[in-house]
Amino acid sequence: MSGGAVGALVVAACVPKTTVVGSSSTTSPTSSTVPVVGGPVDVEIAMRAISDRIEIRPGVETDVWRLVAEVTTEDAAIIEPIADSYLGPTLRLRQGQRVRIVFDNEIPDETIVHWHGLDVPEDMDGHPRFAVPEGSRYEYEFTVGNRAGTYWYHPHPHGRTGPQVYAGMAGLLLVGDDEEDALSLPSGEFEIPMVLQDRTFDNDRLVYLPNGMMDQVMGFLGNEILVNGRPEAAFSVASRSYRLRILNGSNARIYKLGWDDGTPLVIVATDGGLLESPVTPPYVTLGPAERVDLWVDFEPGAVGIKRKLVSLPFDAPQMMGGMTGSNSLIPNGAAFDIASFDVDRNAASTDPLPGHLSDLGFSSVDEAVNPDAARTIVLAMARGSWTLNGRTFQMTEVSPEETVRFGTTEVWEFFNAGGGMGGRGGGGMQEGLAHPMHMHGQQFQVLERSIDDAGRAAWESVQEGYVDEGWKDTVLVMPGERVRILRRFTGFPGLFPYHCHILEHEDMGMMRNFRIATT
Ligand code: C2O
Ligand code: CU
Ligand code: CU
Repeated sequence: MSGGAVGALVVAACVPKTTVVGSSSTTSPTSSTVPVVGGPVDVEIAMRAISDRIEIRPGVETDVWRLVAEVTTEDAAIIEPIADSYLGPTLRLRQGQRVRIVFDNEIPDETIVHWHGLDVPEDMDGHPRFAVPEGSRYEYEFTVGNRAGTYWYHPHPHGRTGPQVYAGMAGLLLVGDDEEDALSLPSGEFEIPMVLQDRTFDNDRLVYLPNGMMDQVMGFLGNEILVNGRPEAAFSVASRSYRLRILNGSNARIYKLGWDDGTPLVIVATDGGLLESPVTPPYVTLGPAERVDLWVDFEPGAVGIKRKLVSLPFDAPQMMGGMTGSNSLIPNGAAFDIASFDVDRNAASTDPLPGHLSDLGFSSVDEAVNPDAARTIVLAMARGSWTLNGRTFQMTEVSPEETVRFGTTEVWEFFNAGGGMGGRGGGGMQEGLAHPMHMHGQQFQVLERSIDDAGRAAWESVQEGYVDEGWKDTVLVMPGERVRILRRFTGFPGLFPYHCHILEHEDMGMMRNFRIATT
């Protein structure tokens, strides 16, 4: 199988349908207030992983794997399909809703779905240890505790996340709440979800080549940029304000988002929802899995004008004497177009940009049990793999350094020590790759960043685009950079993953568990 084409991997034997039901945690100290699994819910969704063929490029059907869903309770409006796309439908949930999702795996591979950014009990989180084989079912049930925000869902089986997301398995999960409703941000047709991904096609196949060690080490970059699963994205818009909900759903690509005419970006939200007030960086640096909500005003008078959202050039971190990407026509750090916006009509009304967006409820570093002694996680190459503190993922393994006490707040530091074989690059340049570090469970705050001299040049080409003002669940760490975060462990106890969200890195083991312990 030369190209490792996805979607036609194995012809699986017919496996009898079995059901795995996640059980509510018996270790929860708040178990008296945790609703019983199997009780009444507000929303029930039937989700399936399926093999399918989709016309992505004109006249050619491509083999994909997808997550499809339908609501089995009354309110079908909470599911918005994306036409002609492999992406799963956009799920719209509300804070406080009790949700049941019955998931059936119908692809010839084991899988499990993770709700990226949501804080849910450990057995509802899609940890790889809960992956189910073809023909099996996994039932999720949880209460949406998160604030309004742009979250997403994707598979999480160990070693198979990269190929499955690449094959098409992903979708947006938008949470709404009363605080956000009161702002009257642009909604309906004036709210545009945009999932950014890169893919390489060969006739009717999506080409994915993570087989060589070097492709795993570098992360897989595609030859074309897709928005919502479609090439050459173009939106026709009215002369008014819009909210663009942008997810970097790529396996490994970093975007440096900007407008082609140099207008600063107006950012109203990040991973964990609205900022306190809008920020206007010159560009936004978006690593895999990070989200940003862009507010844009196509003003009256703009009719007839076309604006493009682009990725600006940057100094891509490099490995071993200049390697920047796995043979992509668009190497990491190259400039490219993402989508065009054609202002083709006058709008009857607009929604103004609120000056104050939300109350974040941030903690102070003094609330941490370790304000001056961060728990440090070193990101580095060791024995041919990307590692976290020199270790790779073992399904249920967790070290004492990865065990935190339930109910506490901690400072963690991600230190990207670079990746030249054997450590730091020579010749004054910091070799290595950027790693978008993600923690499951509660969102965190970014406290501070610092950079060593060897990494400074690459860092300076992206650092004005870090949006650290809001809640985050994924944070980009450039070679030589230290990022200190503050996180509460007050949600659910249990065993959860943290990992690099370059999916090839995650699959090769740049993932570990942390345990939130009650005893
Ligand atoms: Cu978006 Cu552990 O994943
Ligand atoms: Cu996640
Ligand atoms: Cu990585």
